[in-house]
Amino acid sequence: MPQLKIVNLVGARPQIIKASAISRAIKNNFSGTINEIIVHTGQHYDREMSQVFFEELEIHKPHFNLGVGSAKHGKQTGLMITGIEDILLSEKPDCLIIYGDTNSTLAGALAASKQHFPVIHIEAGMRSFNKTMPEELNRIISDHASTLLFAPTNAAFKNLMTEGFKPDNSPPYNIDNPKIYLTGDIMYDNTLFFSSLAEKKKINMLDKLELERDNFILVTIHRDTNTDDVERLRTILRTLLSLAGANKLTMVMPFHPRTAISLKNNLSDLYKELNNSEYIRIIPPVSYLEMTLLEKTSLMIITDSGGVQKESHFFRKPSIVLRKETEWIELVKNGTAKLADADPQKISAAFNYFLKESSGLDFPGFYGDGKTAEFILNEILLMFEKE
Ligand code: UD1
Ligand code: UDP
Repeated sequence: MPQLKIVNLVGARPQIIKASAISRAIKNNFSGTINEIIVHTGQHYDREMSQVFFEELEIHKPHFNLGVGSAKHGKQTGLMITGIEDILLSEKPDCLIIYGDTNSTLAGALAASKQHFPVIHIEAGMRSFNKTMPEELNRIISDHASTLLFAPTNAAFKNLMTEGFKPDNSPPYNIDNPKIYLTGDIMYDNTLFFSSLAEKKKINMLDKLELERDNFILVTIHRDTNTDDVERLRTILRTLLSLAGANKLTMVMPFHPRTAISLKNNLSDLYKELNNSEYIRIIPPVSYLEMTLLEKTSLMIITDSGGVQKESHFFRKPSIVLRKETEWIELVKNGTAKLADADPQKISAAFNYFLKESSGLDFPGFYGDGKTAEFILNEILLMFEKE
């Protein structure tokens, strides 16, 4: 069989991280059989939101970068569709891989499916059942434009079946006869691969930030519902400031640019107060290895990020989720993640509970064996062999 040509589409920070697991597996196991073309939409563009991951995770630099940047949903997605379509028509790949649920995911799904290129969706089937989230619309539409769908959890697999996907379709697969798989999570592949390296390369970071191992809290906030609703952001940060002081616990907050922008523009007094607190460290976004080290050495994680919720589980840390709902429901059912929304009572109750109970928690292996990327690539190759 001639080499399979695959477009690996990235755009936002977590997608570059996820794509690195596929890229690494291609390099290590399929270099003679798969030709990978990396396309970056440019949705994320700051050095610390994009380039740093290419360097650190040793991914080939994008063969194409559309440089779309930030804009409202319609314009951003539209520009991406136009750019991706042009690349697909000139490169003529066998298929396109998309990850997760961002506007880059949606653009890839629409551009490819309308030009009849098979779409492979990694992290398919995730649902929050809240269509006011831009990500929920992106997920549903992307799944229904896909040919191979890799669901990382039982819940995700069931969601797909509820929406009419059949578990026993036979080849040849196509958009009208898609194949759904229950796999692990490629983010777990990465955590296993990079955990020791993070410790080896980045351990000095703890001293620099004056963090004591297993005795600080890691906080990330970036969801539009939390950053663009100033009252929610104020309530969350006031609650965290007071919990940090009352418990004399340091909180390190590597903030996404959108959170930092909202804080500086809308809550400048609170921003000053946080910066003056001996317990709060607001820092720019960190690299993947730095984040891995912070997660691994923290006591507890407070986040509204999907990826960080899971990584907290990989490192056996309890997490408080600053959202009303989550797609990673197994974590909540397991009792190691608690949904606290932006509610001071819920945040404080979860915080105090995890401070007391942290040693008695159980973290079952929900997310596969760390070889999910290889499994996915094998299945993609099989699909083309069977055609
Ligand atoms: C996007 C995804 C979200 C994902 C997140 C991962 C959508 C709709 N949302 O949200 O699902 O969880 O990425 O991080 O696709 N900005 C910069 N520099 C950058 C990138 C962004 O300053 O490199 C700022 C800009 O002010 C921009 C804002 O962040 O307007 C939001 O960026 P955008 O890519 O639209 O959405 P995210 O919040 O990053
Ligand atoms: N991450 C990182 N540096 C940071 C914050 C997050 O490397 O400062 C990583 C994190 O370890 C995880 C991914 O980014 O692998 C999660 O992305 P994000 O929280 O932006 O988006 P989400 O997962 O919610 O879509």
